[in-house]
Amino acid sequence: MKRTFGLLAILAAAVVVPNLASAQSTFVGVKGCTMCHKSAAQGQQLAIWEKSKHAGAYTTLTTEKANEIAKAKGLAKPAAESPECLECHTIKGGPDAADIKQGVQCESCHGAGSAYKSMAVMKVKDNAVKAGLAAFADEAAIEAMCKNCHNEKSPTNKPFNFAERWKEIAHKKPAA
Ligand code: HEC
Ligand code: HEC
Ligand code: HEC
Ligand code: HEC
Repeated sequence: MKRTFGLLAILAAAVVVPNLASAQSTFVGVKGCTMCHKSAAQGQQLAIWEKSKHAGAYTTLTTEKANEIAKAKGLAKPAAESPECLECHTIKGGPDAADIKQGVQCESCHGAGSAYKSMAVMKVKDNAVKAGLAAFADEAAIEAMCKNCHNEKSPTNKPFNFAERWKEIAHKKPAA
């Protein structure tokens, strides 16, 4: 028993440091990010997100159409109270600090932000990643992340053309 625990502790320390950090992190919500990521110089991430359907993903679950889908699937509760719907329409991880009404928000894609959102950590990407900021090796890794939700488990699933869809929500910082 003791021995197994010791081995697990070593493995965790050696391999899973970023996950460990993010496991301890909590969601801070959109306002916890956009104090620094809304200006034109930064790339207007707040305005781009607000205009995207992601911002309304929770509200969509409160519509009649959503409740009809939930009923047809045999769910006992309305869509906006069903974990089977909330899992893709709000932040993952269930009840946490952030308001689920924010729908698919910054941290749905970037990871829970409590440990990386300070200026001192954010300034150095490696440190931010160690503190739970999601790192994407290439476009294929980004596409795979999108497909955590854009897949056939969605009752209204549409074909997901990554290149086109990514352009619709791109929010790059402009080159200086
Ligand atoms: C206190 C200010 C501040 C807050 C709050 C903040 N950031 Fe940042 N963020 C920065 C700075 C500074 C950088 C470094 C790049 C730059 O100069 O714009 C950065 C970089 C990033 C990057 C790019 C990392 C890279 O280099 O690829 C992402 C993604 C990001 N932030 C997401 C977030 C998210 C999501 C939140 C909320 C959970 C958040 N930030 C909160 C200041 C902040
Ligand atoms: C946490 C789940 C989740 C992730 C991750 C996610 N999405 Fe979405 N996305 C949704 C949901 C839910 C909707 C539908 C929102 C609505 O209509 O209320 C949506 C809608 C969209 C739309 C609008 C589609 C339309 O038919 O108008 C685009 C574009 C989009 N997502 C692009 C992306 C891209 C690109 C990525 C990856 C970089 C991504 N999404 C990652 C859940 C997600
Ligand atoms: C696997 C992730 C996932 C799950 C689970 C999920 N959704 Fe969605 N939902 C999406 C995505 C992604 C979109 C936007 C793109 C699309 O329709 O494929 C969306 C869009 C929608 C839309 C808008 C579609 C339109 O054309 O107007 C409704 C309504 C909806 N979902 C209801 C529900 C309900 C109700 C549930 C639970 C029974 C649910 N969703 C579960 C991912 C999901
Ligand atoms: C649907 C997923 C998704 C959502 C929602 C989302 N982002 Fe991003 N964001 C990404 C991806 C993917 C990248 C590109 C990362 C990369 O290239 O490594 C990115 C890039 C960024 C960058 C780096 C820009 C640059 O050019 O360096 C910042 C800053 C950022 N996001 C902040 C935010 C903030 C703040 C929010 C919420 C208002 C947000 N994001 C919402 C997926 C998302």
